[in-house]
Amino acid sequence: MKRTPLLLMGMALTFLFLNPLAIAQSQASKLRAAEDGLALTPPMGWYPWNEFGQEPQNEKLIKEIVAALISSGMKDAGYAYVGPDEGICFSRGADGKLTPNLERYPSGLRGLGDYIHQQGLKYALYTDAGTRTCSKAMPGTKDHEVEDMAAFAAWRADYVKVDWCNTEGQDPASTYPRLRDAQLAAGRPIVFSLCSWGEGDPWKWAASVGHLWRTTADICGPGKADWSAAMKNTADNEKLFAAAGPGHWNDPDMLINGMGGLSETQNRSFFSLWCMMAAPLMAGNDLRKMATPTIQTLTNREAIGIDQDPLGIQAHIVRREGKAEIWAAKPLFDGSHAVLVFNSGNAAADFRVNWQDVGSAETEALYVRNLWTHQTTGPQRGGIPLGVPSGDVVLLRISKSNAFPLPPVIVADSCRVSFHAPGIGSQKLTKTITIRTTGSDELPPWKLRPDLPSWLSVTVTKHGKSQTFASTVSTAGLAKGFYHAVVRADNTEPVSGQPMSALYYDVDLEVGGGQSRN
Ligand code: GLA
Repeated sequence: MKRTPLLLMGMALTFLFLNPLAIAQSQASKLRAAEDGLALTPPMGWYPWNEFGQEPQNEKLIKEIVAALISSGMKDAGYAYVGPDEGICFSRGADGKLTPNLERYPSGLRGLGDYIHQQGLKYALYTDAGTRTCSKAMPGTKDHEVEDMAAFAAWRADYVKVDWCNTEGQDPASTYPRLRDAQLAAGRPIVFSLCSWGEGDPWKWAASVGHLWRTTADICGPGKADWSAAMKNTADNEKLFAAAGPGHWNDPDMLINGMGGLSETQNRSFFSLWCMMAAPLMAGNDLRKMATPTIQTLTNREAIGIDQDPLGIQAHIVRREGKAEIWAAKPLFDGSHAVLVFNSGNAAADFRVNWQDVGSAETEALYVRNLWTHQTTGPQRGGIPLGVPSGDVVLLRISKSNAFPLPPVIVADSCRVSFHAPGIGSQKLTKTITIRTTGSDELPPWKLRPDLPSWLSVTVTKHGKSQTFASTVSTAGLAKGFYHAVVRADNTEPVSGQPMSALYYDVDLEVGGGQSRN
């Protein structure tokens, strides 16, 4: 039986009433995502820091990572935000403005953004709230908030992580809102990732400031996974479950999957924990050298579906038996529930998940889907006994129906269209991009925002799970020069009625001139 939007709303309200942190956040000023519709599910992508540190981040590395992200199937699984972290390596010119390092990034930071957009991906960049970044190699935004955020917008960033090094005397609760205001003034929709490592308790106030906030210290130093740090981050982040929700996420740091020092079991356990915590899934490994089991873990669509569930509920530990923990229940968009049993002990553990763990009566007949073996059992009553090997997990989805649909994950063939109209005079040109969902259900047609400039019109045509956006530019009456617009479209997940993250793409038009710079 599918749950109606009304029932889901009831579940969400019950959740609010039972959770003081959620109440605090809901009573704080409006969610930042309420306006821009961004990150209504946890952001997915790749950042270089965990594997590479600051060196050797450059354009070549980012482009090779983009190619690997696409060829490995990660793009189709939903990983979208990519770009340099601290290795962005800009400097500040005498005029106070940030200047890209053209030795490292020969196409410039706007050029790199265009490349990433053309691959159907989103552009992630990095800066710091203090006087310098952590390595002190680059300037931070302190006292340059407005011009720096204008630079990020001009480079066409879609996501900016703002670190917290060299911030002596600054307070996160007043510094980050200043950066938010500067970002809004710059006029580009950007996912704002606060990175104060939990300093200033951002889970208490940052839902109106950004879309995600780090809750913990770094999960590792560059190059080697650190399992005990991962477990510490899990424990610290777990407690904050009530603060997370669509458009405002706890961030226990980037993924360590595929890094040296982790066993296959640890990779699976780690990924399951991050999915249950509705954590951002920012991979941090070298995507160019992934073993098959790493790819299989990072692209497990059934596990990702738990992370990307439109209800956006962060699970927590409800019961412990010895070293085995039960994380329950994570209500999902179709009325099913995700449950995780994690055995952090040195010996195998026997465990039983009871139907009351997922809010059902013992007498109900339920289906159980194992999201790592991809097998379904049932229907059965009462509960299910499990043997969990040492260090391992069992990740389950439990449902009254045997359907187990996947929620939408949106994949774009491009996030940018560019036009060059060589002569001046009246011309009409059209280009299309295709947006598809890899979820189980087709989506309703994307709804366009009506605020397009007069030179641009867009139509959406639906073909099953794909939808084509045709952008038509009309140069009548336009002077020679460059024109730019950002198209926004919105949608709703059809089973739960939950709003989906807004879809944005850039349109560039050059009128006149011999040689297009696009
Ligand atoms: C901090 C952040 C990391 C990374 C480095 C870069 O430590 O928490 O994620 O961005 O800075 O120096």
